[in-house]
Amino acid sequence: MSIKLSLTGIKPTGAPHLGNYLGAIKPALALANNYSANYFIADYHALNSVRDPQVLRAQTYEVAATWIACGLDPDKVLFYRQSDVPETFELTTILMAFTSKGLMNRAHAYKAVVQDNAGKNQDPDFGVNMGLYTYPVLMAADILLFDADVVPVGKDQKQHVEMTADIAQSINACYGKQMFTIPEAIINESTQLVQGLDGRKMSKSYDNTIPMFVSEKQFRKTIMRIVTNSQGVDEPKEPEGCNVFSLYRLFATDEQQAALAARYRAGGMGWGDAKQELFELMNGFISPMRAVYDELMADKNRINLILEAGAEKARALASKKIVFLRKNIGIS
Ligand code: TRP
Repeated sequence: MSIKLSLTGIKPTGAPHLGNYLGAIKPALALANNYSANYFIADYHALNSVRDPQVLRAQTYEVAATWIACGLDPDKVLFYRQSDVPETFELTTILMAFTSKGLMNRAHAYKAVVQDNAGKNQDPDFGVNMGLYTYPVLMAADILLFDADVVPVGKDQKQHVEMTADIAQSINACYGKQMFTIPEAIINESTQLVQGLDGRKMSKSYDNTIPMFVSEKQFRKTIMRIVTNSQGVDEPKEPEGCNVFSLYRLFATDEQQAALAARYRAGGMGWGDAKQELFELMNGFISPMRAVYDELMADKNRINLILEAGAEKARALASKKIVFLRKNIGIS
């Protein structure tokens, strides 16, 4: 049996933060050790919301450089831009013919906008473009084009992968043969565990994120903004439930955790000191990655070459799949 494929798309909608790294990037890269892997930048998905060409281009480079800096090896992982694989859009057209409108009506992301509009007494489809409405079909094309077996995603994307499986199943049933592999979502539970600066889940929408690849100075400044209680330097402190400590725990060895917990409980350590410890630990971890990131961002041509090489390999596979599909559906 051939090795199974893990595939995921990364929407270029803002510089990735530590929560993205621990919740999505790291687990996806770990999967690439046991699966063959296609990880791509879903730039046409971003077009639904990002309308400034310079911003879209810049964010595409940022996510590409981030994934490579975090350890994606382009020799091991097929890494490409969605837009560089036009077979995706032909497959989208094929899938459209098999996707009921009702299925799209049930998509959470679309329903949320409709509900929001209802609350504001607006037309239910206010602000809904067909890109948003048919978002799950484009995503299904991304997945089915390569016959992905598993799709590592956040909880919010689970429904989209289930819809992909639905669409694939109805096409397989229609033609009475295995036209597509039925994919399965792998949910990154750990995303929930990464706390932001204020102790809530780290998320761009809460404005509490720790960006990964800012300057060391800016990184330290961000760490110093972590919310703590108002206990003075001398007071003994409780590590459990402390925002600084819970972030420390994500990077520290057991010994390091025990040592810092002891300093908390002994008193005499101020919050500034605790944050400095956290900064040094995280910075030690991030520095080598930051160096790679900065190097790539200073030489975007290297990023282009990596993505173009990925696209070339991806297209070779994709065009074979399209030939197979056309033949089986009676087009050509
Ligand atoms: N919709 C995903 C997100 O918002 C990105 C994405 C696009 C994707 N195509 C995909 C994820 C295919 C997995 C598989 O995060």
